[in-house]
Amino acid sequence: MARPKLIVGNWKMYKTVAEAVAMAGSLKSLGLGGRAGVHVGVCPPLTCLHAVAQALRGSGIEVGSQNLHWEREGAFTGEVSAAMVKEAGATFTLVAHSERRQLFGETNATANRKVRAALAEGLSVILCVGERLEEREAGRTFEVVRDHLLGSLEGVDSAAMARVAVAYEPVWAIGTGRTATPAQAQEVHAHLRGLIQGAWGSAVAEAAVIQYGGSVKPDNVRELMAQPDIDGALVGGASLKPDSFGALVHF
Ligand code: 13P
Repeated sequence: MARPKLIVGNWKMYKTVAEAVAMAGSLKSLGLGGRAGVHVGVCPPLTCLHAVAQALRGSGIEVGSQNLHWEREGAFTGEVSAAMVKEAGATFTLVAHSERRQLFGETNATANRKVRAALAEGLSVILCVGERLEEREAGRTFEVVRDHLLGSLEGVDSAAMARVAVAYEPVWAIGTGRTATPAQAQEVHAHLRGLIQGAWGSAVAEAAVIQYGGSVKPDNVRELMAQPDIDGALVGGASLKPDSFGALVHF
């Protein structure tokens, strides 16, 4: 059975509440949640999450958090739990985006705690993995994504893997306009699927959704989506405008 494509917009730290609600209204009126075989989601800043979830009700477009904390509640100033983002309307969360790894000290160990907390709360997860330029140039890409994948998903069982997608985002391709070639991405995606097969078996690997992220644009999305192991896109810059996000969903 063909895997669905998963197209998700990561709005990062862009958009006021008013801008986010206007954007959600546009996505809804474009009918982007209704394309057969394509699942669509957006990850607004936390300040907008609830309002965007309300605005997208009935649209078929899901709302996710960009991050969360692994504890349910407590004295953790500045943090938000899985239960909290779920209550606000999130059905999924990103975990370990490379910006979290690079700028905010995210490790495979913290990512693992977040993945488990999100799954325990009933959320789905998009786990981000990807090598830095110097790691690619040193020939370490497969090793780095292996550590990210297996370290962050330790202790997650096969049943829970149905709610885990992986996003391969080479750090050197994020926000740089320098996309991985479809062949470069496919090679890593096939490697990731093989790792999933080794850890969780063939059925989980066959069903696993592996997105590509890093300078995905309307003019390169189709070629990427045509690769056998690329099951969607996690998009930053090109997800911020209704027209370009619409074009991505209709790749
Ligand atoms: P860009 O699409 O802006 O390169 O960002 C990719 C990304 O980080 C999505 O999470």
